[in-house]
Amino acid sequence: MKIKNKNIAGTQVFITGGSSGIGLSAGALFAAMGCHVAIFARNKDRLAEAVQRIAARKKAADQRFTWYAVDVTDDAAVHDIMGKAVRETGVPSILINSAGRALPRYFEEITARQFEETLRINVCGMRNTIAALLPHMLRDRGYIVNVSSVAGLIGVFGYTDYCASKFAIIGFSEALRAELKPRGITVSVLCPPDTDTPGFEEENKTKPPETAAISKNAKTMQPEDVARVMIRGMKKGKFLILANMESKFSALAKQLLPGLVEKIMDRAVASVSKETIS
Ligand SMILES: NC(=O)c1ccc[n+]([C@@H]2O[C@H](COP(=O)([O-])OP(=O)(O)OC[C@H]3O[C@@H](n4cnc5c(N)ncnc54)[C@H](OP(=O)(O)O)[C@@H]3O)[C@@H](O)[C@H]2O)c1
Repeated sequence: MKIKNKNIAGTQVFITGGSSGIGLSAGALFAAMGCHVAIFARNKDRLAEAVQRIAARKKAADQRFTWYAVDVTDDAAVHDIMGKAVRETGVPSILINSAGRALPRYFEEITARQFEETLRINVCGMRNTIAALLPHMLRDRGYIVNVSSVAGLIGVFGYTDYCASKFAIIGFSEALRAELKPRGITVSVLCPPDTDTPGFEEENKTKPPETAAISKNAKTMQPEDVARVMIRGMKKGKFLILANMESKFSALAKQLLPGLVEKIMDRAVASVSKETIS
């Protein structure tokens, strides 16, 4: 399934992590394209506020905007809430899995609990949502976008748990793409670079100085721009959606010039170590 401007109005869109950042921006763009949008996250106040911001972008009076509180790590709850959402709003033709979190720290500071939690939110949450919705979505054609990261293509200092989860999302999405294509469902994976969101602000609070030095070299995108690139990629039916030139360069260099990306990163890390020693 490719999405086109002219046939997307009236389409039901579900977005996990739709109450903030990239998910919220995607919701607003889909609203402006005439879609019905349902968002899913844990915090009810943020969901209620976000759904109003999304609805403010609507194109037609009969568009529906709804929110559901759910923790994507809870498989049974996800199954129940997604069933309820389908009954109340309709089967989604588009599912965006944007719920996720990053808590950068040195490997030795990442407890077993944090490691597991990151994988449960970022990877299992996506699996739970898709498992709950797939039986419904398979009745018609559909589109699933899983949000990974540039840190799902390149291992980054300070992100051992996060990179493990974001690399996993790419493998998961590749396998899922192959399984679902013959059944009428398109799967893409979005790899945003650093993006100016509430989640990114939180992330900056625990970044080791080396991670911050690597980040300093990279351009930060706005969530609306990332969401716009995602929708453009969906229109082309692209599997891997990279949001800017820098991300494309990093992905290409990683494949064609092995060692180069690591060398650039090592230099940033060494500059911090030198500062610490002197
Ligand atoms: N911002 C970046 O620099 C960047 C870069 C690359 C990739 N990404 C990825 O892009 C996605 C969105 O990131 P963002 O920066 O927009 O984050 P954000 O502003 O923190 O938004 C995260 C969203 O996910 C929801 N969420 C988190 N844990 C959840 C859970 N267990 N169950 C249900 N919902 C949950 C949050 O709501 P509640 O907390 O209320 O549940 C919120 O709606 C994430 O997957 C992130 O890893 C972000």
